[in-house]
Amino acid sequence: MDIFETHCHLNDDQLYGRIDEIIERARQAGVSKLLVVGWDYESSLKAIKIAEEYDFCYAAVGIHPENIYGVDEISLIDTLELSKHPKVVAIGEIGLDYHWTKEPEKRELQKQFFIKQIKYANEHNLPIIIHNREAFEDCLNILENNKPVASGTMHCYSGSVELLKNVLDLGLYIGLDGPVTFKNAKTPKEVADVVPLDRLLLETDCPYLTPHPFRGTLNEPVNIRLVLDEIAAIKGLSKKHIAEVTFDNACKLFRINK
Ligand code: NI
Repeated sequence: MDIFETHCHLNDDQLYGRIDEIIERARQAGVSKLLVVGWDYESSLKAIKIAEEYDFCYAAVGIHPENIYGVDEISLIDTLELSKHPKVVAIGEIGLDYHWTKEPEKRELQKQFFIKQIKYANEHNLPIIIHNREAFEDCLNILENNKPVASGTMHCYSGSVELLKNVLDLGLYIGLDGPVTFKNAKTPKEVADVVPLDRLLLETDCPYLTPHPFRGTLNEPVNIRLVLDEIAAIKGLSKKHIAEVTFDNACKLFRINK
């Protein structure tokens, strides 16, 4: 079975020191392609280093909404220009995070960075990886006014079934990860049930969002199997089929040869 892990942070210090064994475990479990996602300049550079070292790894570069503070225009452009590297397949992760940010002026700054990064992606015909936490209305407004021309993914989709339609109407993919396995996670399970197979991507967001039953430990790409198992059970389809379709979806979105 071939699985495409479309959102991992092997560039995170918690994983980077043990990257060989972590990748080996993932490969043993059938993960044959991995997209390593940056959240600032340094982590984007590290994602590229990993993609240079392992031919089945790819990189995304961008500045996460929680990391924009204190970043000037030149640093932003420097980060986005890393996308000139041939192993960079997307701009991300970018978006809005209102969970920790309550101040209106800071939220405004997040919006400006999000729009600038979408515009850059559009000018360079690159897909985007969207981080959206508790900011759905503003996020959708921005996307509707700045349509991602090369599409993108709503990473760790956390919205309702009703909002799902808006995201799908924008032509975006839906990334599902650990929360779909949580025992009390009613909404993610409903979303997994109704999301069209041709728009679904599998991811872990490791080292975060460890799936059940390993919650409380550090997440890593091998655990994508638990996400796959749960989605297959919810949809009543074989794991192999879901793995195949989501693999193809990722290759299409990120323009990677199978
Ligand atoms: Ni992430």
